[in-house]
Formats: sequence, C-alpha cells, structure tokens
Amino acid sequence: MSTDPDPIALAEAAAAELARLTGVAQHDIALTLGSGWGGAADILGETVAEVPAEQVPGFHASGVAGHSGTLRSIRLANGAHALVIGARTHFYEGRGVRAVVHGVRTAAAAGAKIMVLTNGAGGVDPAFGAGEAVLISDHLNLTATSPIEGANFIDLTDLYASRLRDIARGVEPGLQEGVYVQLPGPHYETPAEIHYLRAIGGQIVGMSTALEAIAARAAGMEVLGLSLITNPAAGMGDDPLNHEEVLEAGRAAGPRLADLLSRVVAAL
Ligand code: 6GU
Repeated sequence: MSTDPDPIALAEAAAAELARLTGVAQHDIALTLGSGWGGAADILGETVAEVPAEQVPGFHASGVAGHSGTLRSIRLANGAHALVIGARTHFYEGRGVRAVVHGVRTAAAAGAKIMVLTNGAGGVDPAFGAGEAVLISDHLNLTATSPIEGANFIDLTDLYASRLRDIARGVEPGLQEGVYVQLPGPHYETPAEIHYLRAIGGQIVGMSTALEAIAARAAGMEVLGLSLITNPAAGMGDDPLNHEEVLEAGRAAGPRLADLLSRVVAAL
C-alpha cells in the first residue's frame, strides 16, 4: 500500500491554502502559461494576489529557465476570477505524473470549469511557421503513461472542446489548428522521430500539455489548448535546436500572444 498522499486530497489542500493566501474563495477559469505566454498574466485583468508556488501544498519552485514559479489570482473585467499557474512541473523533471497534473487538479478543486493550457512547441507540419500561435485540436500522448489511476475510463473524444475552439476562432479568425504530440523529453527529437510523428498525424511537438489535458477532463473541466510554434522540429528547418532559441522565440512573440490570449479569455 502506498503511503503517498491521495493526489485529489493534496489538490484539495492546495486549493484551500490558495483560497486562504489569495482571499479568493473560488476561481472560475485557470491558465497554465508556457514558453512565450507568460506576458498574458500582466494584461488579463487586475492581479489580486501572487503566491510563490512553494507556499502551496504539492507545488515546487520551477527549475526551468523561462518558467515562472508563482500562482496568481486575477480578476477579469467581467468579474470572473482567473488562476494563473506559472509553476508547471514537466514530466522530464522526474517527479512523476502526479506532480505534472497537480496544478490542473488544484485548479479544479479551486472551482475552475475551464482549463487553458499553453506551451511552446516545435512545428512538425511545415504549414506552421515559427512565431505562430496554433490551437490544439487533439493530441497524441506518447509519454506511455496516464495521469488517471484506477478503473477510470474517461472519454477523450472532444478533449480540446470544440465549443471553446469555436470561441477562440471567433475572436481570432484564421487561427490554425493542429494535433499536438507530447513526448517525455527533455531531449528534442531526432529527424527520424519527427518524420514518424508526421506520418502518424502529429503537427506540433512538445513536452507538456497532453497529460494535463487528460487530468483536466477527468476532473470535469473543459480544455482549451494553444501552442506557440517556437521553431521547426528537427529536420524541418536548417538550425539545430536549443532551449535558449525557444525562449527567444517566446520573448519575441510575447506581446502578441498576451494580446491574443487576453482577448480569447475575455470571450470564454
Ligand atoms: Cl522541436 N520538440 C519538443 N519536444 N519540444 C519542443 C520543441 C521540439 N520545440 C520547442 N519545444
């Protein structure tokens, strides 16, 4: 018998502590801001409180350059409360899949009905250029694991809710959609792997989001996913890949992504 705390109980404890620290009893929507998307936190609305992640049960300070380590409560113009999770745990950090989806479960326990997941990703489909924002239409989870434990058979047919994607496209006509592939990382792919991902229908590749989306759906939330294409994937462009280049692409696109995301969130 495992002596680890039940992950749902841990998320409930985190939500209770978050309510105490922020003074906001209930959050309506939650966002995880990945590479390039962090600037949205400054323009979504009025920041009510910002809490260091390590003060909330189950969260860890981010160990990855370019990722913030706070949880932020923001009041939107329409009076709704948004929880911005700037402390994403990646699968490659080795803390296990429970840690990866703890933020999503905390958001659900805090009352959020919509989970917005964003990331920086490589372009597998040559139709997607660096600097472009792409709606996630579906995913291929190639992590060989699931965040769900037990005989819990969740339907993922409309995981990236078509209702929310329609709203996003209403706000930003011409926003393209693609199938996101999550791999464990932390290494980037080989050109042969990218060739394979293309052949099986992958269009965008990264190291996050799919496991979180599954956990969000299992917790009863609707999911919206958005990727910033930071670079062509291996073999699709001329340059070798590096994390600094990914961060720089995020910085360059930051103001545009923040504007896009705040308009989408206002319409949800
Ligand atoms: Cl090319 N691959 C993965 N797995 N993650 C990325 C990426 C590529 N570019 C940005 N993030």
